[in-house]
Amino acid sequence: MSTEDHALQDESPQVPVQRTAEPELPAASADPALLEVEDLKVHFPIRRGVVVERTVGHVRAVDGVSLQVAQGGTYGLVGESGCGKTTFGRAVLRLEEPTGGRVRLGDDEVTSLKGERLRKFRSRMQMVFQDPLGSLNPRHNVDMLLSEPLKVHGVGSKEERRKLAVETLDAVGLPKTVLERFPHEFSGGQRQRLGIARALMLRPDLIVCDEPVSALDVSIQAQVMNLLDELQGEFGLTYLVIAHDLAVVRHLSDRVGVMYLGKLVEEADSESIYEHPRHPYTKALLSAVPQPDPEKEATRERIILKGDLPSPANPPSGCRFRTRCPWAQDICAEQEPEWREAASGHKVACHFDL
Ligand SMILES: Nc1ncnc2c1ncn2[C@@H]1O[C@H](COP(=O)(O)OP(=O)(O)OP(=O)(O)O)[C@@H](O)[C@H]1O
Ligand code: SF4
Ligand SMILES: [Mg+2]
Repeated sequence: MSTEDHALQDESPQVPVQRTAEPELPAASADPALLEVEDLKVHFPIRRGVVVERTVGHVRAVDGVSLQVAQGGTYGLVGESGCGKTTFGRAVLRLEEPTGGRVRLGDDEVTSLKGERLRKFRSRMQMVFQDPLGSLNPRHNVDMLLSEPLKVHGVGSKEERRKLAVETLDAVGLPKTVLERFPHEFSGGQRQRLGIARALMLRPDLIVCDEPVSALDVSIQAQVMNLLDELQGEFGLTYLVIAHDLAVVRHLSDRVGVMYLGKLVEEADSESIYEHPRHPYTKALLSAVPQPDPEKEATRERIILKGDLPSPANPPSGCRFRTRCPWAQDICAEQEPEWREAASGHKVACHFDL
């Protein structure tokens, strides 16, 4: 069934939202937040000059992102390529030095940790990558790959590490016979199971999954997502899942944040964001996703965005989305929309209620 693609260029929005007072709304989640990120910024210097290097500007990869992830919850961060998702995840884990803002995990201020305390702390937060074994030594067998994080943190004897490796392999659905095998001997799905096992070896509190299934076939994607789901209950994990694919995030997350050019533009619980997207960018992203329900699919209207993602070194004035927004008005170039709670637990950065 075909759908008619059209750009919604001429639909004028209503008047900008008038707010008389800050709305007193209940907190988005009753669970205490394990991870709290406040106004996180990561700006990369742009350097020029052959003999003498000088800084001529900054790529504002992450430009003031605040979010909370409930203990045992899953936060899905979506947005198109280059919007700053990976940089955000890396900065949360202190794999990238933040330019500003703070990160708290449990009772610890991650952003102020240094030296040995930071090194020890790293075991509480792990990352799963799109191809988690791609960057590892291909001459190391699974036993070595899984034991390595424990060795680095001085955990257990050789026998204890092996025992833990066998237990962890079992948890991700792989037999202990794989311990003697090498990364290249595994399929994509098995490699991702191994990547997850490696991240689990230190029994972390938080796992940042960066595009955990985007390199996999659709059928395998579902298996890996189900595995992540099961492990969350079994190991009491909290997840930050980064993906450009809205379906992946929807399946796994209880809260979803949509990122555009270094900032969040919308955040809500998973159902609200998919059923009632409020930001034009979220509406556009969702309009591109085919609907399983034939009736909904027949009436799906695609919102085609103009142009490309602007450079994060020189974001547009006012609302960063305005150069591509079908609803943009004069005010959008002049004033940055505030990050406001449009409905209970549903935040959006847009001048209008669309
Ligand atoms: N080390 C770095 N130095 C300079 N610029 C960087 C660096 N790392 C990332 N960037 C830039 O920061 C911006 C955000 O990149 P990032 O990789 O975080 O985006 P992303 O949302 O993860 O994209 P993708 O979906 O393609 O993985 C991009 O413009 C990128 O070029
Ligand atoms: S504030 Fe931004 S998202 Fe909202 S209408 Fe204006 S340009 Fe579009
Ligand atoms: Mg990325």
